[in-house]
Amino acid sequence: MRRTFVRALARPLVLAAAAAAIPLVTAAPAAADRVVVGGFPVDVSQSPWTVAVSSRDRFGGTRAGQFCVGAVVGRSTVLTAAHCLSPEVLGSTPDQVSDLSVIAGRTDLTSSHGREIAVSGAWVNPDYDGDTNDGDFAVLSLAEALPASAVIGMAGAGDPAYAPGTRALVYGWGDVTGAGDYPRGLRAARVRVLPDTLCEEAYPGGGEGRYLADSMVCAGEREGGRDACQGDSGGPLVAQGKLIGLVSWGNGCGRAGSPGVYTRVSDIIRIAGWRSAVREGAGSG
Ligand code: ARG
Repeated sequence: MRRTFVRALARPLVLAAAAAAIPLVTAAPAAADRVVVGGFPVDVSQSPWTVAVSSRDRFGGTRAGQFCVGAVVGRSTVLTAAHCLSPEVLGSTPDQVSDLSVIAGRTDLTSSHGREIAVSGAWVNPDYDGDTNDGDFAVLSLAEALPASAVIGMAGAGDPAYAPGTRALVYGWGDVTGAGDYPRGLRAARVRVLPDTLCEEAYPGGGEGRYLADSMVCAGEREGGRDACQGDSGGPLVAQGKLIGLVSWGNGCGRAGSPGVYTRVSDIIRIAGWRSAVREGAGSG
């Protein structure tokens, strides 16, 4: 859990340091990274399945309490990363966070557009492994349903969208430089599914995590530059109109030779597919 602790705390630390005006020592990006590093602004209407996961109580109100991202896979079901709901991030279990919510339909977090919907239940994968990052997903149940048009279908095992070389988009409100620059607006970055061997070589274990091809997806650009980053965790990786991954981890952001690692959605279906709400989302679009 130790590495998860450090990584997961990156954002709260940034906020705490900003509040206290303490210079924060962070690993400097190897190159001048720009993402969602290397990304571009999008309107949430173009990706209505992308929601902010928030708690003003835990993370402050400046950006509506956003601390992670979720993907709408059923009208009342959102997937996010397990590490987002860890005690190291929340300071408690998720059910002790009284205002845990998702925000749908709000591009600019400082606006009042869209809807804030309370999370009525959180199921964190009990087999999530904070050392390798294996199984990094959680299922949020919403107190109110979203329209069916907000639901994205999940790509099952063997779906061609997982093939290396496939173009994909990753969405989030996370750090755009790797140095703690959090945008107000939603962004997306164009990446590609990369061969598992690239991530196996980059992440043999012992560092930030270990790449496991059965449960993770490797994506980014071989030359770096475009990637997810801190604060994007749980966010959707979408290819061929289907959800294939959730932002999980990486070494820095957008560095050549250190691709982004995503929770493999087909493995979520395998583990949590019995949950009716997840099944409802699978293959629906
Ligand atoms: N763990 C990070 C978070 O909590 C996500 C990191 C993703 N990093 C990457 N280089 N793709 O927001």
